[in-house]
Amino acid sequence: MNLEHLLSPLTVGDMTLKNRVIMAPMTRSRASQVDDCVSALHEAYYSQRANAGLIITEGVHPSFDGKGYNRTPGICNDEHVAAWSRVTSAVHRAGGLIACQLMHCGRVGHPDNKATGTRMLAPSAIAARAEIFTEQGMQAMPEPEAMTVDEIAGVIEDYRQAAERCKAAGFDGIELHCASGYLPGQFLASGSNVREDEYGGSLENRLRFVAQVIDALASVMGIARVGLRISPGNRYNDHVDADPQATYGALLRMAQRKGIAWIHAIRMPSTGIDSLALTRDNFSGVLIGSDSFTAEEAETRIAANEVDAVSFGRLYIANPDLVARFESDGPYNDMDKRTIYGGEGAKGYTDYPLLSGDA
Ligand SMILES: Cc1cc2nc3c(=O)[nH]c(=O)nc-3n(C[C@H](O)[C@H](O)[C@H](O)COP(=O)(O)O)c2cc1C
Repeated sequence: MNLEHLLSPLTVGDMTLKNRVIMAPMTRSRASQVDDCVSALHEAYYSQRANAGLIITEGVHPSFDGKGYNRTPGICNDEHVAAWSRVTSAVHRAGGLIACQLMHCGRVGHPDNKATGTRMLAPSAIAARAEIFTEQGMQAMPEPEAMTVDEIAGVIEDYRQAAERCKAAGFDGIELHCASGYLPGQFLASGSNVREDEYGGSLENRLRFVAQVIDALASVMGIARVGLRISPGNRYNDHVDADPQATYGALLRMAQRKGIAWIHAIRMPSTGIDSLALTRDNFSGVLIGSDSFTAEEAETRIAANEVDAVSFGRLYIANPDLVARFESDGPYNDMDKRTIYGGEGAKGYTDYPLLSGDA
């Protein structure tokens, strides 16, 4: 199969990607339960996948309040910077680029997954009507605290400081997780934001938080190293908006005005919204498409200029040398569903075989 478009270089803001194969952000729940640090396992896992033009890390919390899930890593202190530095260095040594996905979960989470004394902060005191995995099993998500305007400023400052730490840790970029009902999405959506101040009500007001977070990240990294992940209309985590097409259209035009480096759009036909077309209609920068792509479809869609690059998630879990497998038209390893999330284990994380037969 000819993959000349997929395997051609791409400029994304200040980065030059060697190909248009992106490793999608994927939570794998293997950070330390004690201190939310990544380890030598993560170093091996990510550097094995440095064949991607750009790796986007699993969701990383910018502050301890921002943690929602069990065993996700943070970038909240100097220990986290030191741990992530070893990961970015290993990826760079292997010839790759790596961006940190900042994921503040807001109202999505459970106290059992969070450090003692941390808070669940949200635009409004409305619980997500959904359950979340904890060590004690699935549990309902509790009602979060509605933030004051000063507390919102504090969270934006947390993002800015996280960007400082990302820079210190050697990340090439930052992707703001604005999909799947996490804090930025909670501000955008009318179902989770019923504020009556400058952060709620009108579309302009609901966009304000995301706009200010983007500015905070860009003040550190430069806007040419900041991207945004979106999934318009996706109701995951009780993310419900009266008019996602309008909300995300306006969000994309705001991102366009700011000159953000990339939009990473999850396509989800079940929503009735074509997120790739919506992005192309409102944003002229780099568009990374996501969800259920094969190499062949990625090549076709890039050649047709429908997207500029494509991210691969599950294929990268099972195939560390994915680009080589694309080049040889397979074969592909199957993903072991039992080891997707899990503890400190290398099993199903760093032990998938390479084409060459090496572990
Ligand atoms: C195990 C797993 C964990 C994921 N974690 C995240 C995450 O932390 N952040 C995010 O934006 N998307 C996350 N996703 C979504 C993926 O980035 C991607 O959009 C999805 O897997 C569809 O792409 P694929 O068909 O190539 O796997 C996750 C997906 C999987 C399978």
